[in-house]
Amino acid sequence: MKEPARHTVTAALPYANGPLHIGHIAGAYLPADIYVRSLRQRGKEVLFVCGSDEHGAAITIRAMKEGTSPRAIVDKYHALMGKAFTDFGIHFDIYHRTSSELHRETSQQFFLKLYDNGAFSEQEEQQYYDEEAKQFLADRYITGTCPKCGNTDAYGDQCEKCGSALSPKDLIDPRSTLSGSKPVLKGTKHWYLKMDEAQQWVEQWINTGVLDDKQHHDPKEWKASVIGQCNSWLKDGLRPRAMTRDLDWGVPVPLPGAEGKVLYVWLDAPIGYISATKQWAQDKGVAWEKWWKGDDSRLVHFIGKDNIVFHAIIFPILLKLHGGYVLPQNVPANEFLNLEGRKISTSRNWAVWLHEYLERWPNRQDELRYCLATIIPEQKDSEFTWKDFQDKNNNELVAIIGNFVQRVFVLCHKYYAGKAPEAGEATVDDLALWSTVHASIEDIARDVDQFRFREALQAAMNVARAGNKYLSDNEPWKLEKTDPERTRTILANSLNVTAVLALALEPFLPFTADRLRKMLGLSELGWSEVFRKDLVGAGQILSPAEHLFKPIDDAAIAAEVDRLHAMEPAQPAPPFTGQPKPENATTPKANIAFDDFVKLDLRVGTITAAERVPKADKLLKLTIEVGEAIPRTVVSGIAEYYAPEQLTGQQVVVVANLEPRKMRGVESQGMVLMAEDASGKLVFVQPKDVIAPGSEVR
Ligand code: 2FM
Ligand code: ZN
Repeated sequence: MKEPARHTVTAALPYANGPLHIGHIAGAYLPADIYVRSLRQRGKEVLFVCGSDEHGAAITIRAMKEGTSPRAIVDKYHALMGKAFTDFGIHFDIYHRTSSELHRETSQQFFLKLYDNGAFSEQEEQQYYDEEAKQFLADRYITGTCPKCGNTDAYGDQCEKCGSALSPKDLIDPRSTLSGSKPVLKGTKHWYLKMDEAQQWVEQWINTGVLDDKQHHDPKEWKASVIGQCNSWLKDGLRPRAMTRDLDWGVPVPLPGAEGKVLYVWLDAPIGYISATKQWAQDKGVAWEKWWKGDDSRLVHFIGKDNIVFHAIIFPILLKLHGGYVLPQNVPANEFLNLEGRKISTSRNWAVWLHEYLERWPNRQDELRYCLATIIPEQKDSEFTWKDFQDKNNNELVAIIGNFVQRVFVLCHKYYAGKAPEAGEATVDDLALWSTVHASIEDIARDVDQFRFREALQAAMNVARAGNKYLSDNEPWKLEKTDPERTRTILANSLNVTAVLALALEPFLPFTADRLRKMLGLSELGWSEVFRKDLVGAGQILSPAEHLFKPIDDAAIAAEVDRLHAMEPAQPAPPFTGQPKPENATTPKANIAFDDFVKLDLRVGTITAAERVPKADKLLKLTIEVGEAIPRTVVSGIAEYYAPEQLTGQQVVVVANLEPRKMRGVESQGMVLMAEDASGKLVFVQPKDVIAPGSEVR
């Protein structure tokens, strides 16, 4: 394929419903940033866009959980994420947001053009409606029992336990997360994208790369995992998919009769790349179209594997049905990053949050960028451990890069008063050094172009490795007295390798590269100069020698691991069972320390539903709202004392951090506190006045 005139690079718009963690960075933003930095170094014209994804149920659920408005949530996390990206040197041309006016306009125009082009079919359908909350329920607002695995807390779009994709009507015993009530089916109209009609060309485009005479790509350049996931969707047959939702947060559907409806978040989010481009162009006073409509533009989407179908099937269909847009040249999706042997979980706080990392490791962005770049989950899931972070810092950053640069600077100061020496005639050794360095430089560019960032980083490290070996083999510190001429040449070569190293490392470690370039007294360096052997001119004044990296000791790493475990919320646990009390139950119990008492997570909960557990006379299954996005299911041995219909609306006290336990096939996620009189009768322990569910009891 001929060289593109420009590169439009997008990185998935993160949901503005929480801070960024290392999984986000390793999975999409770091590889995208490395790619863009490398292209720019090589003089390519690049636009790099991103922004916050501020619509959809992810946001409204978070708002509900925090007891605030969606607007407050997106404002908070948009600012936090934008800052984290900047702090880590992930430098977008624009970090936009989908709640902006320009985005609303852009997505509505896009939708109307699709509408005019006949992209949609209108369908009246029955959808779950919450009569208490008086609203239709987005898929994520409905939970129920998964028909595949029996998980009682499956969402309307997916069961997180068995991974099945679901639709709300698949759920057994559905309930609304808004009020806890049982939703009813009610008619509503939606606009469906006729994806079925795109089946044939999408199949051809994914597998052969050919779209039309102007646009094609080489499918061999795509990751097998991406093509594989697309084909598994295609095999099932593309089906019409609703592009509108009944929600009060999002881009309003711009059609008469569509009041109260918004665009589906997965329609509006990728259009966010386009509105970000428009905003950037407006700010610069330039035209935006060529980045999206020029046949000579190369569009690349960096995403995680959970976004593949949206970027490689649905968005291309939208772009093509709209007309005038180029389709992606590549969608280099990554797999997932795990943390210390487990899946990263934001709800369980099993994550390394970016903004917190910087509080504990100030000015050490490159140390994290480096470690993450070595484990980008390019082909399969990978794992971050703090021990690996320490090892890579100490054995690679300190021992390879830091050591090489330090040795060269110390010797130049010792022998030449901090001025760059001039190289004399080259020996075979010198030529071998440069040939290794130049081969590594070529490897970096090739690997980056093929989205092999881990290998590209190893190639960059090979520049420092070659420099270290050259110094150790030639031992200029031993030669200086007997052969000052040769010593001068060795150090001139070494110093110039550090300059090439600054260029080689820039896409990966921009802060270090910048520091090194300044130590060498060089202004901006371009890739066109990377094959020069005299970047640091003779006589150039050098900064004092300094350590680019500091070793990390075991105690700092142990503290991180402890912190990770300590931050996890305590596990919920065995429910009240109604089993007979042990003989000594009335015996006074030994005193406990206050610290032990505060380990209990006691909360006020509101019972929103209750039913008998089949074949268990004593048990009731309660749904209790305890101030979380999803109400808890608690199995309680109170069936002899309370009828289910008496219970809705009752406030109770819940032990929220008992280990979950299965009883008669139902997982109980807490325990309700009961008082027991002498006859064994149980009554609820209740707050005297009505109080918000989730209120702490202490
Ligand atoms: O998965 C996510 O975090 C989505 N917010 C990604 C959206 S990417 C694009 F389409 F905007
Ligand atoms: Zn399931």
